[in-house]
Amino acid sequence: MLKKIFINLLKKVYYFFQPMMPNMGFVMTSKIWSLGREHNFNVYDRVDYVRVMSLELISQEIKESNVEGNVAEFGVFQGEFASKINEAFPNKKLYLFDTFEGFNKEEENKDKKENFFTEHVTDFSKTSVDIVLKNMKFPENCIIKKGYFPDTTKDIPIDEQFAFVSIDTDLYDPIYNGLLYFYPRLQKGGYIFIHDYNSVGYKGAKLAVKKFTTENNISFFPLCDGGGTCVISK
Ligand SMILES: C[S@@+](CC[C@H](N)C(=O)[O-])C[C@H]1O[C@@H](n2cnc3c(N)ncnc32)[C@H](O)[C@@H]1O
Repeated sequence: MLKKIFINLLKKVYYFFQPMMPNMGFVMTSKIWSLGREHNFNVYDRVDYVRVMSLELISQEIKESNVEGNVAEFGVFQGEFASKINEAFPNKKLYLFDTFEGFNKEEENKDKKENFFTEHVTDFSKTSVDIVLKNMKFPENCIIKKGYFPDTTKDIPIDEQFAFVSIDTDLYDPIYNGLLYFYPRLQKGGYIFIHDYNSVGYKGAKLAVKKFTTENNISFFPLCDGGGTCVISK
């Protein structure tokens, strides 16, 4: 009887704290037990577990299949996710595209006008190339492309190919323009992550992905990560 009361009490405490746990830095799954190995990343820090572990698994696929080409993130801010890409691909160059001064005003206003934002607009100006590079395990692999995308793609070698790309720009136009640029340059066996696809905060993300994938007859897979990423593969 006492045991039953104790277990019920424990359950109540657990269910009370459970919704807060991801924000407190805890994850519901600390291991993918079937891997039979430790994670390469520290999954206990305050990151989106599913997003980061999906990147880790995809980087394994890319390595095992010897997919050539470099990697990139468009929408870097302070380099939180970019640092995971940098760590996952120590033998590849990592292109980092951002104004490093926040959104382009024209693109931001366009999304505001369309009512794509349902939450406040985040200020992404508090960053710099120095901050980003300090976050990297292999800063020597980074190629900084500072400025407005797609202008910053102009001096990239025309035969440059990509094995993995993260597009995390929140807004409709840059997501669509990112797909226009990166998809044709994605190697067979490569992947593109588009953050916010299933985010109510940035409704333009889903519309941009839908437009591009419908026009080009491309399928994709929505991840159950915190940021509502969707994944395109080739
Ligand atoms: C959500 S933040 C990126 C977050 C980052 N991936 C992380 O892991 O923390 C979006 C970034 O996209 C950048 N951005 C949006 N549109 C852009 C454009 N057209 N050209 C360059 N940078 C852009 C902004 O400057 C901002 O830093």
